[in-house]
Amino acid sequence: MIRRLRVATLMVGLGVSVAAVAAAQGPDGAALFERECVRCHNGAAESRAPAVDVLRRRSPEAILASLTAGSMRPQGGRLDGAERRAVAEYLSGRALGGDVSGIGNARCRVNPPLALAGKPMWAGWSSASTNTRFQPAPQAGVTAADLPKLTLKWAFGFPDATSAWSQPTVAGGRLFVGSQNGTVYALDVQTGCVLWTYTAAGGVRTAPTFGSRPGSSAHALYFGDTGANVYAVDADSGELLWKRRVDGHPFARVTGTPTLHDGRLYVPISSLEETAANQPGYECCTFRGSLMALNARTGDVLWQTYTVGLPQVMGTNAAGTTLHGPSGVGIWSAPTIDVKRRIVYAATGNTYSGTAAAPTSDAIMAFDLATGVVKWTRQLTAGDIFGCRAGAPNCLEKVGPDFDFGTPVMLTTLADGRDLLVVAQKSGMAYALDPDREGRVLWEYRAGQGSIWGGIQWGAAVDREFAYLPVSDIRLDTPGGLHAVKLATGERAWYHAPPPLACGGGAGCSAALISAPSLIPGVLFSGSNDGALRAHSTTDGTVIWEFDTNREFLTVNGVRATGGSIQGPGPTIVGGMLFLNAGYGDHMGRAGNVLLALEVP
Ligand code: HEC
Repeated sequence: MIRRLRVATLMVGLGVSVAAVAAAQGPDGAALFERECVRCHNGAAESRAPAVDVLRRRSPEAILASLTAGSMRPQGGRLDGAERRAVAEYLSGRALGGDVSGIGNARCRVNPPLALAGKPMWAGWSSASTNTRFQPAPQAGVTAADLPKLTLKWAFGFPDATSAWSQPTVAGGRLFVGSQNGTVYALDVQTGCVLWTYTAAGGVRTAPTFGSRPGSSAHALYFGDTGANVYAVDADSGELLWKRRVDGHPFARVTGTPTLHDGRLYVPISSLEETAANQPGYECCTFRGSLMALNARTGDVLWQTYTVGLPQVMGTNAAGTTLHGPSGVGIWSAPTIDVKRRIVYAATGNTYSGTAAAPTSDAIMAFDLATGVVKWTRQLTAGDIFGCRAGAPNCLEKVGPDFDFGTPVMLTTLADGRDLLVVAQKSGMAYALDPDREGRVLWEYRAGQGSIWGGIQWGAAVDREFAYLPVSDIRLDTPGGLHAVKLATGERAWYHAPPPLACGGGAGCSAALISAPSLIPGVLFSGSNDGALRAHSTTDGTVIWEFDTNREFLTVNGVRATGGSIQGPGPTIVGGMLFLNAGYGDHMGRAGNVLLALEVP
């Protein structure tokens, strides 16, 4: 009640119209929040929903956008327009109608046409569509010897954001990055000035994948949002080329970065239906994961292959709500292209509901590039049905461990010429699979104990010698730790124990390694939940350089910005520069909203 009065007073103070104040005297935002939101946004340690103090840092526009077009669309759909506005103003403590662009005075004076010639790049989730996250020396332009000289060049603040969660991509001297409020930015790599922006309907946490625009000499960016829309925009201007809703399910979203190959865009589709499944009245569950191939020129669907069959009615729960299954098996990470075998690989998540877990869940699936036909499936955790909390009405008696794959398949070639698929799972396990024998397991390695937030969460990296496995284990007593494993044998090469914390303690300050690491020859970069980016020697794991993001940064666009937990993407290393997103307000992390550009002078 007090807060509502504060909003109304603030609005009068700002001289907004009487009509706007009258509207604010409509539905009671606080009461709506209690009724519709607090059961998930209650700050409980096991909740995946951001706590109220994190939501307070978002603008009313961002909250409204989330309720109408983003990941809270199903919840927003239960309210009418006035109610959605009331709850957004109540939560943010501010009136709607503010500026959301966050460009400030940072617009570039000129926007010359994109010139790729001779310029290095990092074009998607990984430096290449094999998803190894290895950037070769000529493209990186940074060596181990340069690291002591690496210094901050500019910082950019994401407005209305508590997480900096999109992998930056770089091509032709431009940096492209998505953001939580749906704005995709094209920045000049030298200065951080803004060349253009495009506003998507939902939050954009995929990398903007850069590539040619089929049928023309121009280039495009391809990305997905939390409302399950996929976009292609012109790389020079940000102009929309096409947009497609790839899944009609209310909880569907695109989390993994789409992979571009040979004029086709391969899109992984996941969902947050699991979070709704705890409500006794929710008909659990009907989402099914899929991989989709789109024509990159037009956005037309070439094929879509579902990971599970059509959900059937399975009876009712104790509350009398109809239950459906099989369901789930979302794809959370970027698809991987195997040009030699004409295959696209995807790593899948758990089953949500069903009489038995789908044989395709927590698995690696190999799809024919041209047709989408499934060539083989290698399940690595069986029986993982997780759509609910133990004891909830929609749960089977035994709840699965929630051991999705959040990391993509990595395709690498050993020194002896053999190809290997390396995968790392929320279970804390890593595996090497033989691509020529339907994914037969060649070795397995336990890096972490595993939990619903990893294990190994968003990424690992490989070169030709080792696989590098950062461990989250954030919910356990001893989070963190970095492992290097010999690719040829699966034996441990070295282990680096969690270093002293860069954050001062308190909620969200932990050594968990949740973000994807990145490699250049001889150096592994790993961002930690403690807010530090560390460079490890690939020979023995020694920390050879460290950068602490736990502070406020002066930003080129004037948006107040701090670093924080590093989760999700890892650093992008291109042309003598390193770009890093820091801050993550969900999943037991500390909020932040900064993009940092470091350079070897
Ligand atoms: C069934 C559980 C549930 C309910 C009910 C719920 N939320 Fe959420 N909410 C979540 C989860 C889980 C996330 C994290 C989603 C993500 O990672 O995108 C979230 C995220 C959000 C975000 C940030 C998402 C973004 O796009 O940036 C906002 C804002 C939000 N919720 C507002 C609300 C409001 C307002 C209500 C009530 C009208 C509400 N939520 C009801 C589970 C819930």
